[in-house]
Amino acid sequence: MSVPDVIAIDGPSGAGKGTVARAVAQALDCRHIDTGAMYRAVAWRTLQQGRALDDEPAVAAVASGADFDLDGTRVAIDGHDVSRAIRTPEMDVAAAAVARLPRVRAALVARQRSLAVAGSVVMEGRDIGTTVFPEAPVKIYLDASPEERAARRAQDPAHRLSPGTGVAEVARALDARDRLDRTRRASPLEQAPDAVRIDTTGLPVDAVVRRVMKVVGERRQGARGS
Ligand code: DC
Repeated sequence: MSVPDVIAIDGPSGAGKGTVARAVAQALDCRHIDTGAMYRAVAWRTLQQGRALDDEPAVAAVASGADFDLDGTRVAIDGHDVSRAIRTPEMDVAAAAVARLPRVRAALVARQRSLAVAGSVVMEGRDIGTTVFPEAPVKIYLDASPEERAARRAQDPAHRLSPGTGVAEVARALDARDRLDRTRRASPLEQAPDAVRIDTTGLPVDAVVRRVMKVVGERRQGARGS
């Protein structure tokens, strides 16, 4: 079986995954899949159907049966455009809750694997290099200091808890969610042993993208040579 051409970009919230993954996909002229948006959309659809987020069979049914439309920054589930609705502090918490459920993860991982069949893809998330595509030729783990991650999130209007929420409060919410992602039993957030870690603290986006592109070039050349 051939190795899927996946560039896996993992890391905690606010590390810059979205911006960097989009830019890398554009530079490589390939698709970009934000798997966090899939967890968010599943949480949204479950609530919309009036089901509880800890009703694992109900959430897993949404995860395995929903029709996703992921196109750039547009996210639709079962025909509902949720691009904006899933980017709120409430949906931050709801997505982290469904992402803890093993049956939900299994369903979404299967769908994420099938998305790579159509060709090269930059896929961002928490477990892409460890669980979804452990054989991915390129794995990047983006990180940044907790202060910088919180400051980035606080600048994003969608993630302010309410008008006037300060960085300290955003930092507390981010920290709580990261702890959930790192300590859950099913595929916790962790760096794959063969991932290249890039600390984006204080780095402009184009510098991070250049580093990622260098790794892509090296790994692809290595894969051709072996
Ligand atoms: O990246 P994000 O903040 O949009 O992700 C939403 C939630 O989903 C977050 O709690 C982490 C979780 N997630 C995950 O567990 N695995 C992924 N591959 C992507 C996101």
